[in-house]
Amino acid sequence: MRGAVEIRLLAPAKINLFLELHGKRLDGYHDLETLMVSIDLCDELILRSGDPSESIALEAHWSSGLLAQRCISAASAFQPLPPVEKNLLYRALALLQKECGVNSPVQVALLKRIPLEAGLGGASADAAAALLAGNAFWHLGLSIAELSDFAAQIGSDVSFFLHGGFALCEGRGEIVTPMENLPPIWVVVVKPPFGLSTPLVYRKCEIPHKPCQMAPMLDALRNRDEFALAGQVVNRLWAPALAIESRLAALPAAFDEAGLIVHQMSGSGSSYFGVTFDRMKAIRAAAILRNRALGFTWVGRGGVKSGTKSACNVPHDTLSS
Ligand code: C5P
Repeated sequence: MRGAVEIRLLAPAKINLFLELHGKRLDGYHDLETLMVSIDLCDELILRSGDPSESIALEAHWSSGLLAQRCISAASAFQPLPPVEKNLLYRALALLQKECGVNSPVQVALLKRIPLEAGLGGASADAAAALLAGNAFWHLGLSIAELSDFAAQIGSDVSFFLHGGFALCEGRGEIVTPMENLPPIWVVVVKPPFGLSTPLVYRKCEIPHKPCQMAPMLDALRNRDEFALAGQVVNRLWAPALAIESRLAALPAAFDEAGLIVHQMSGSGSSYFGVTFDRMKAIRAAAILRNRALGFTWVGRGGVKSGTKSACNVPHDTLSS
């Protein structure tokens, strides 16, 4: 019997170690310069052959493991998931089917761990993983450059997630230059129980007359110098986010008190992260922050590459669940 293909893929979240705005564009977007770093807080995607009655059958659930965590605010950090058709992952697979003339149906299970409205790029990560998984599942043979064209149609951050690791992202975020040879980092993320709307944060932002430079941050990162890095991890969206949600104000001091001097908000928020080169320091800081019950608190590695976790042939009769 010919086995049906099952593709499993991890979709890692990201933080922004630097985010500067260079101007507002006529299309309403902002030109920016950001260093995106993937982290090993991952959603998980499983693609299997579907039923002909539905071209894309998507089921999305929060990972039950999250609720078991010792995190008081976990329940409020993980709000109900949006309807499946609004899911960027669904749009990514529909776009691949349409543009590549695919007519074989797919069944998708999405296990969510990345919180929503968090500035961690969860929806974009899922969409990029769907493009990579769909490309393999339907044997389309598209290159990363070809997938990037689809990615840019879905969202500004999606192209980054086709690469993962460290990358400089420019334009509205879709022009991606992967950066090699940057040192691995340890990252602590706190997602408060409230989220922030990306369009709203951008609407309230101001373009600086004198933009910050990324080079000193990259030098400090290469030198593994936390003291130098502390002053260079910039996010131009912090001020508008704080103006919208004053509860963010508690986070910088909480990270300092937990022993992490390098900290900043991720993307348009509401997640706040700390970075260190010392694993034990990260684990200790996460424990302190968790005890303060500021929100869902996660600790793990930064700089994780995107890619297939496993792709295997499995017999049809194991696919019924
Ligand atoms: O591209 P994406 O759909 O992820 O963007 C969401 C919203 O964020 C946009 O509608 C826009 O309001 C804002 N945005 C922006 N400039 C960017 C990226 C996003 O203004 N570079």
